[in-house]
Amino acid sequence: MINEKVELLLNQQVTHELYSAQLYLSMSSWFSAKNLDGFAKWYYVQAYEEKAHSMIIYNYIIKAGGRALIEPIKAPPHDWDSVLDVLNETIKHEEYVTSLIYNIVDVARQEKDFKVDQFFQWFIDEQVEEEDNANKNKGRFEAMGMDGKALYLLDQEMGARVYTPPVLLTTLEAE
Ligand code: FEO
Repeated sequence: MINEKVELLLNQQVTHELYSAQLYLSMSSWFSAKNLDGFAKWYYVQAYEEKAHSMIIYNYIIKAGGRALIEPIKAPPHDWDSVLDVLNETIKHEEYVTSLIYNIVDVARQEKDFKVDQFFQWFIDEQVEEEDNANKNKGRFEAMGMDGKALYLLDQEMGARVYTPPVLLTTLEAE
């Protein structure tokens, strides 16, 4: 049993998370075109993470007895002015996603859907990490500067990121 208002918001969040995946894949492609393969890898992994977020919510809707309604995903931008522009947009986007998650928890509490309230505490923690990652990437970029060698080193560090599916998703899929 899932509250109707909350179910609508969860369905919308599935689409928001899929849009995040599209946005980060587009950013990954932009970095690839600039031969910044490490940044491209980082954003490629991030696209997988966002897809995982959407699948977690999708699984939750199904398991709570709701109906997941799959909606179109709008096209992301394809071009940015600079690396800093991408990093800033990432921060802005994650702050927006955090506000969406807060709204879900807020409405779940109003509607006394305490299961969703509890379940979404994972997403609140996840958003702390997502915002922190986005801010750290910008901070490191600014600290190292645009100098070619520093950018090369930072690009190599970014490329070390590896995708690991969230335990919550593998648990939900195994249930
Ligand atoms: Fe799914 Fe980047 O938040």
